Amino acid sequence: MVSTRNRVEVMHGVNLDMLGSRAVDIYGDFTLPELEVRIKRWARELDLEAAFFDSNSEGEFVEHLHRLPERADAAIVNAGAWTHYSWAIRDALDLTGIPTVEVHLSDISKREEWRRHSVFEGLDLLIAQIYGKGPDGYREGLELIAARLGV
Ligand code: DQA
Repeated sequence: MVSTRNRVEVMHGVNLDMLGSRAVDIYGDFTLPELEVRIKRWARELDLEAAFFDSNSEGEFVEHLHRLPERADAAIVNAGAWTHYSWAIRDALDLTGIPTVEVHLSDISKREEWRRHSVFEGLDLLIAQIYGKGPDGYREGLELIAARLGV
């Protein structure tokens, strides 16, 4: 039987809508819609229901996080560059209380100094921080979420 606690919100922040034309040597040559198709398929294989949100507006991203407890049981968040400085997004994510995996396509721990810090570090709701595995990082995140939700 499929658990009813199986909804995962996959949230992409600033500039991730430019995947496919942006630093393809670092992020890959796929677009965000193509990435989302793959994530949706992986989620289905794990009996998870994936929904997607992306925005270049920090305020919209925060407001979506405010609504998250009504629509999701877990989240995967790639906040793009906001990861490195948006304490507002950290606070909003903390408010959700929802188990979350932070994913980055690139290995932010090995890039410029300013990318090495994530504002999400230390949040209780964080299941894992996955860096530098490209799209496979999302699959790993989904697997961790399925295990946490008992799906
Ligand atoms: C990113 C890493 C960030 O430093 C960068 O600003 C992005 C993408 C990643 O997925 O590797 O926009 O989050």
